[in-house]
Amino acid sequence: MTNAKTALLVLTTTLVAATAAAPFDSEKIEALRFLGAYGFLKDDGGSLSSDNATSLRRALSLFQEYYQLSGNSALDAVMLHLMRKPRCGLADIPDRVYRPIARKWPKTRLTWNFQVASKEISRMVEAAFALWAANSSLNFAHDPLRPDILISYRTGAHTYANRRNVGICPATFDGPGGALAHAFFPSGATDFTSEIHIDNSEPWHVYLNKNPSNTHHLLQTLTHEIGHALGLQHSMRNDSIMFPYIPDIKNQFPVKLSIEDILAIQNLYGSHDDGNPTARSLHLRTVQLDTLQSHTVILDT
Ligand SMILES: *[C@@H]1O[C@H](CO)[C@@H](O)[C@H](O)[C@H]1NC(C)=O
Ligand SMILES: *[C@@H]1O[C@H](CO)[C@@H](O)[C@H](O)[C@H]1NC(C)=O
Ligand SMILES: *[C@@H]1O[C@H](CO)[C@@H](O)[C@H](O)[C@H]1NC(C)=O
Repeated sequence: MTNAKTALLVLTTTLVAATAAAPFDSEKIEALRFLGAYGFLKDDGGSLSSDNATSLRRALSLFQEYYQLSGNSALDAVMLHLMRKPRCGLADIPDRVYRPIARKWPKTRLTWNFQVASKEISRMVEAAFALWAANSSLNFAHDPLRPDILISYRTGAHTYANRRNVGICPATFDGPGGALAHAFFPSGATDFTSEIHIDNSEPWHVYLNKNPSNTHHLLQTLTHEIGHALGLQHSMRNDSIMFPYIPDIKNQFPVKLSIEDILAIQNLYGSHDDGNPTARSLHLRTVQLDTLQSHTVILDT
């Protein structure tokens, strides 16, 4: 949890820095806050206040390229519209300094639990995990006592669901709209518990086999957040389940993985056929190396 916590803390610090840049008009402040929260604004508080205009222009241009928007790096209605759409709360561009290299589990059999879930929701979680298991060496089982991935509804400023993680989650939920959910990347340790927090103030659609109306399909968001909990970053392609924004309502169901998602999960964990010992011991060596490096990151911070 420490690495993920650190990454989220950086995010919160950037938010504070953006808020401190006071004499901006409200849309610019909103944009700065967004760009800082999602990794487009790379400057620390110091350089932000010494050269706001340049930092903002650079961040807007990166945002524009990421989402392939046309325009000339000046804040416009198209950008603001996209910034205000419901999306995943994790950054699009991970912080290179704090980003741990180990972002996969050192095992392929993983367990999950959804705290206080109904039958419908449990079926939905199973369906989301099945999508990731279908094309990779991973398999998943429900284990309420010792889950590797712990999913829960949270609201506003919130605690962790796992009692071993003391304190407040650094990423506060913002009510309806905006960030819908966030997840913690694996640390590389076997006994790590990754949490997925789902914003309980959103109108969730919890039934399989239906297109939602005026709601967000929980299956879509769950599948995306599970991708993070397995180690995947955001994708710039809008047909990927890892695209940061949820699709328009008519495109939210059926939920499926794109070829990019399948290749990304196979890149981390192999496909069903990768059972040969050479590949397995290679994986193991990579993980051990990664774990060492991620410890170095913890010491640095
Ligand atoms: C940037 O923001 C700081 C703090 O709000 C302000 O004092 C400064 O004049 C701004 N600089 C530019 C270049 O806009
Ligand atoms: C993913 O799995 C499905 C079902 O087993 C299979 O039909 C498809 O070819 C697989 N795709 C890839 C890219 O492995
Ligand atoms: C993805 O982007 C393309 C090009 O901008 C657009 O035509 C398409 O409708 C988008 N697809 C989805 C699912 O949003």
